[in-house]
Amino acid sequence: MRKKIVAGNWKMNKTLQEGVALASELNDALKVETVKCDVVICVPATHIVSVVNSVSADKIGVGAQNSADKVSGAYTGEISAAMVKSTGAGYVILGHSERRAYYGETDAILKTKTDLALENGLTPIFCIGEVLEERQSEKHFDVVKSQIVNGLFHLSADDFKKVVLAYEPVWAIGTGVTASKEQAQEMHAFIRTVLAEKYGQDVAQEISILYGGSCNPKNAAELFANPDVDGGLIGGAALKVEDFMAIIKAW
Ligand code: 13P
Repeated sequence: MRKKIVAGNWKMNKTLQEGVALASELNDALKVETVKCDVVICVPATHIVSVVNSVSADKIGVGAQNSADKVSGAYTGEISAAMVKSTGAGYVILGHSERRAYYGETDAILKTKTDLALENGLTPIFCIGEVLEERQSEKHFDVVKSQIVNGLFHLSADDFKKVVLAYEPVWAIGTGVTASKEQAQEMHAFIRTVLAEKYGQDVAQEISILYGGSCNPKNAAELFANPDVDGGLIGGAALKVEDFMAIIKAW
């Protein structure tokens, strides 16, 4: 059985104090619920240590939203995968469309970031997804395939199995326009076919593929009911415990 995961991506939101309060509230809510998926929160780098110390490790996994493509040294402002790991975090989001678009992250950079994350024992949550024009011109399958091939297919099968994928159509992120359940299933099934061609069916069946993009308490259950959707990567709705819990309980 593939791991079911609901992961929050807080993006650049919440001060340290607000973030610790949000994480603690989520932790309290999870203490009194039996949930059917893993719960992860990917928080600003400044918050990781405090959040790790405010939650129960058996209830909530904590992650970063980025890590560097360099090991260490004179790279002012960067945070290495080893540093992220040393905070107690277990996950790192890599290749989010906002980082690809605003910070120039290319497939080549992401390849190195993935290697370093894996070498340091972090689970990469590797994001892929097309922009609106690419979908409208029916290039979405090609775009997603090339992001996977160029960013990840250098990995051995053993390493590939440590990666979580997140399909996030860029046109659905923060827009309130979610992919329909059919669009999500179609792409997730396609991704699994791409993985099977390279690594075989067994590996392809083991990889968790999350959906992200305006996932909310109202649409989570129907998205998660798809056979190839293994959870969600949640932006806005992860900033309110009530909404995030409702998504978690959609499993
Ligand atoms: P929203 O849920 O706010 O659309 O953001 C999705 C996302 O980008 C998660 O990484």
